[in-house]
Amino acid sequence: MTPETTVRTTAFRGEVLHFLRDPGDAADPAGAYEYLEDGVLVVRDGRVAEVGPARDVLGRLPAGTQVVDRSGKLLLPGFVDCHIHYPQTDVIASYGEQLLEWLEKYTYPAERAFADPAHAGATAEFFLDELARNGTTTALVLGTVHPQSVDAFFAAARARGMRMIAGKCLMDRNCPDFLRDTAESGYGDSRALIERWHGCDRLLYAITPRFAASSTEAQLARAGALAAEFPDVFVHSHLAENRAEVAWVRQLFPWARSYLDVYARSGLVRPRSVFAHCLHLDEEDRALMAERGALAAFCPTSNLFLGSGLFDLRAADRAGMAVGIATDVGGGTSFSMLRTLAEAYKVAQLAGQPLSAFRALYLATLGGARGLRLDDRIGSFAPGREADFVVLDPAATPLAARRIARARSLAERLFALMMLGDDRFVAETYVVGRRAFRR
Ligand code: GUN
Ligand code: ZN
Repeated sequence: MTPETTVRTTAFRGEVLHFLRDPGDAADPAGAYEYLEDGVLVVRDGRVAEVGPARDVLGRLPAGTQVVDRSGKLLLPGFVDCHIHYPQTDVIASYGEQLLEWLEKYTYPAERAFADPAHAGATAEFFLDELARNGTTTALVLGTVHPQSVDAFFAAARARGMRMIAGKCLMDRNCPDFLRDTAESGYGDSRALIERWHGCDRLLYAITPRFAASSTEAQLARAGALAAEFPDVFVHSHLAENRAEVAWVRQLFPWARSYLDVYARSGLVRPRSVFAHCLHLDEEDRALMAERGALAAFCPTSNLFLGSGLFDLRAADRAGMAVGIATDVGGGTSFSMLRTLAEAYKVAQLAGQPLSAFRALYLATLGGARGLRLDDRIGSFAPGREADFVVLDPAATPLAARRIARARSLAERLFALMMLGDDRFVAETYVVGRRAFRR
């Protein structure tokens, strides 16, 4: 037998941090996390067997267990990116426009090319490499309108064993002809994709009306019908991102109380519904999001880059809304969840709101997993979870090494890591216990 089939247990030694619950606003919320300065993460058959202090765990590992020494590095559950567009990889950092013009000028032309499965497949491979080099192990991903763009993405993710959620965009108006489906073709293509991919290995499907402005009422109603047929499938869209967009949606749907109400009346606001941005909501919207168990994806780099607005984290918390963190590449400007957390901190600062490194790292791991209702599978090192994790090097740059050497508490070290961190700080990424990236 090969070593892989005989040695099924691997122990990773290093600093270990994961979350047990939401740390909230507390600066050092002991009890919300487990931290081991010299810890061991034991992985058996791709799942977490246990975590514990090295002095307790190492002595009782089964004979022959491989011990991977990452002392000096920080082991954290893999990052969960709650909203990202793989076809927009090539338009990241496109100059000068706000949302609606940016879509017309850069985004829609780039998405046209995904009618070609070869282009889609090659871009999916690059995109998944980029996620891995940034420590992201799960993402909620938009394809283009073309079903083949989603086939290509899922095939690439499946070959890597990754837990990915994706869907084809539904868009039957207010977009170029070359990106347009119909209410019926969108329904049929989405249904076929669900049957082909949802629950296939670690892959999950998301019904993906692009945004209210690019779907007719008939299309949203068909999407809602599909969501009712498949309650464990995700719903994924954009919501209240930009003021001109919100005004346009008000014109297109005069009967709706609000932008969210368009989705609610179409049967699209329910558990496993994820709405990117949620910047221009009112209290009634927030209460409905919370009541229905929908997740808001906070996309700080995108909201700043496109000049869209500032996410109100405190209002979301007060309403009891679930919040996850997302890069929103290509409106967002980085694949790095660490850089995204640093921008989230600055957005919160502009509103006079606290965002500790504990809370931020929680949102980027267990918080996102919870919002997606995947916390029984990913997001922490609780026993039985799929062993997706990242090995971070807190001293990856001379400046970070110098700053972190001066930190007097875990809170301070993590904060410096979050503010200074990027892809250079990701030493390795593991997917179901297998290394998917090494720097
Ligand atoms: N709203 C509708 N489509 C998009 C998109 O591709 N990116 C962003 N940021 N917002 C959108
Ligand atoms: Zn987006």
